[in-house]
Amino acid sequence: MIAGDGIGPEVIEAAIPIIDGASKKHGFAILWERLPYSAHHYLQTKETLPDAAFHHLRDDVDAILLGALGDPRVPGNEHARDILLGLRFKLDLYVNFRPVVLLHPDLTPLRLPPVSPVDFVIFRENTEGQYLGRGRDSGDEHIAEEVNTGKGVERIIRAAFEWARSHRKTRVTMSDKSNAIPTHKIWQEKFKAIAAEYPGIQSEHRYVDALALELVREPARFQVIVTNNLYGDILSDLGAGLVGGLGVAASANLHPGRRGGLFEPVHGSAPSLAGKGMANPVAAVLTGALMVEQLGHPDAARDLERAVTQALAAGARTPDVGGTSTTRDVAAAIAAGL
Ligand code: NAD
Ligand code: IPM
Ligand code: MN
Repeated sequence: MIAGDGIGPEVIEAAIPIIDGASKKHGFAILWERLPYSAHHYLQTKETLPDAAFHHLRDDVDAILLGALGDPRVPGNEHARDILLGLRFKLDLYVNFRPVVLLHPDLTPLRLPPVSPVDFVIFRENTEGQYLGRGRDSGDEHIAEEVNTGKGVERIIRAAFEWARSHRKTRVTMSDKSNAIPTHKIWQEKFKAIAAEYPGIQSEHRYVDALALELVREPARFQVIVTNNLYGDILSDLGAGLVGGLGVAASANLHPGRRGGLFEPVHGSAPSLAGKGMANPVAAVLTGALMVEQLGHPDAARDLERAVTQALAAGARTPDVGGTSTTRDVAAAIAAGL
């Protein structure tokens, strides 16, 4: 576990006893190891994620739970890039799996028809795109390169279809900007080829600008969205906004077929909320559910999701979701529901 910065430690320490409660109830135990990597650690030691720690995380652990990284005292965000992006890239966690689920009707800011469940998942490519940081500054030109390899595009699209098939979903939406960015042709080509292998699943394409609009207008029609690293980052915050905000949005960084992964809420360190007891622990608990599911305990995951849904329905809510409860109150309500 890497609690990180800002509200990271608060939400993670609130979530851990709840995850432990679920594991105990479902007959397994998690041995937690707390690692110190954070802005504080970086400022004290100049270490972001030392090689030995990386090798340990790669070789010796079943899963990594991460709070959030980002601190105004590190304006260049070096530690977050090394730790968060570093783990995604070096562990080749090419799927950033970001579910968008409306857990209670009053959490959405939209006026939705009464029976309109928002329930889709974003498959965000997690190892390429502009996030590799390739490019150069020369004179007045500041060039950011976006990397799209055939292998990288193919495997994220395939992961989305595989997940759709195994979860009985009927539609996969691919989003790119191939009308403006010529190299996005690779997304068109790979999507067309792979979709043909899944005749039972409807495939459709949306330019990302149009998709942003449609997600607000008719979110319930989407099931699985697959897109590149940057668009997936942006659309997952938009998705969070449709269902209650960043306080309730979970994510998992995975390499399908391999055990484990890196599990983190979609939200960041929210420095203005840190230390106030106001941070919503729901995203961290739901992230814990994704983690125990990946570790082979889907019943525990469903139980955690149920307990969260019940706590929200009963009004155990931090201010970001319209309540007056503290982080601890909400955690206690979820634990009681378990
Ligand atoms: P943020 O997600 O930290 O916060 C944006 C706003 O969302 C907050 O001001 C707060 O109002 C709300 N919010 C977020 N999480 C919440 C929670 N659990 N409970 C209640 N409200 C919550 O995004 P930001 O302000 O753009 O970034 C702050 C720092 O976090 C930056 O350094 C950024 O780089 C970093 N960041 C890290 C991660 C990560 O570690 N995975 C993700 C996003 C941003
Ligand atoms: C996220 C965050 C990160 C990202 C930042 C902190 C580098 O926004 O996990 O969504 O852009 O991937
Ligand atoms: Mn983000």
